[in-house]
Amino acid sequence: MAYQVIIPAAGQGKRMGAGYNKLLLKLGGIPILIHTLKVFENDRECKGIILSISPTDEVPFRKLISDYQIKKVTSIVYGGKERQDSVYNGLKVAEPEGIILVHDAARPFIRTELIHRSVRAAEEHGAAIVAVPVKDTIKKVEDHVVSETIERSGLWAVQTPQAFRVSLLRRAFQKAVQDRFTGTDDASLVERLNWPVAIVEGDYDNIKLTTSEDMYFAEAILKKKQANSR
Ligand code: CTP
Ligand code: MG
Repeated sequence: MAYQVIIPAAGQGKRMGAGYNKLLLKLGGIPILIHTLKVFENDRECKGIILSISPTDEVPFRKLISDYQIKKVTSIVYGGKERQDSVYNGLKVAEPEGIILVHDAARPFIRTELIHRSVRAAEEHGAAIVAVPVKDTIKKVEDHVVSETIERSGLWAVQTPQAFRVSLLRRAFQKAVQDRFTGTDDASLVERLNWPVAIVEGDYDNIKLTTSEDMYFAEAILKKKQANSR
């Protein structure tokens, strides 16, 4: 069950519009980055955290890790232009055996139980992603005109964590680099090896904090979680 995790945190948070990395924004008085790191810090199954950051954030991030006494960050690497580059730089320093997770720093509400379910699914199937059924009707639009209404059943919104055997994820990244392929998530690289990726049904609280409206939802989710843990 033990695993290591790569946490990509090297974005710029442009859509959040804070003017600096959104991961420094606070929820309930604590930075988003720390909320996410603490979930893994407090999980006994987590062997180590590989944090991928931008050089711009190195000083404040290192200070937060020390102030909040996060002990499991085994490596800090620099990210790249795309999220995929940031994950790849983390993968390069990962332990070569076992299960590795990739989890966005911008998803602070991930539950340990869901992490464990995705690790178990990756142990069994090699690759597994957390996702939820799509609730909205989805249409394809071109030039502001509907070109297609997509059958909703069978559509899932993909989240992180995404869990893999390290050897499989390494192969997938090697092929992506070779082919100059950039995917929108990590599993899409594994799919290109024709490897079936298992689905772990997640929950709607595991949102990615992307735009400023998300911060209102986030405060509400945090309140609910704190009330439940009392
Ligand atoms: N990320 C990263 N390296 C990049 C881009 C993104 O490590 N080159 C990380 C982000 O820090 C975030 C996660 O990947 O934790 C998901 O990305 P996203 O939500 O898009 O965050 P940002 O890229 O920071 O935001 P934006 O796209 O609005 O600039
Ligand atoms: Mg981005």
